Amino acid sequence: MVSTGKGIYELKCQACHKLTEEKLVGPGWKDVTKTRKPLWIMNMITNVEMMLETDPEAQKLLELCMVRMPNQNITTADARSVVEFMRYNDGEK
Ligand code: HEC
Repeated sequence: MVSTGKGIYELKCQACHKLTEEKLVGPGWKDVTKTRKPLWIMNMITNVEMMLETDPEAQKLLELCMVRMPNQNITTADARSVVEFMRYNDGEK
């Protein structure tokens, strides 16, 4: 799952997200799995429009980044792989 997630990251997320804490277009992913719940991350990946409309934390990020993250049409299964890749990036096995 981690390598599937990495592939998706390189294809569809890397243009806007670094794996460090550094912000690119969107926030860097370092420690995102420690500060956010898995379901929240899943929703951000598969249903970003809803999150930007209703979730206060997502809205804070929007104020910070001033760009709306586009919906990348990621399936639930692929989103799970990306979350696994994020966990791996945060040093978990
Ligand atoms: C065009 C740029 C862009 C692309 C491509 C993009 N994002 Fe984002 N992402 C953002 C922005 C900007 C935000 C901050 C929220 C906002 O402003 O909409 C964000 C926020 C996030 C967050 C919340 C981060 C945090 O610190 O809580 C996650 C998780 C996320 N994106 C995952 C993904 C995934 C997974 C992909 C690839 C499938 C992806 N993004 C592709 C721009 C992008």
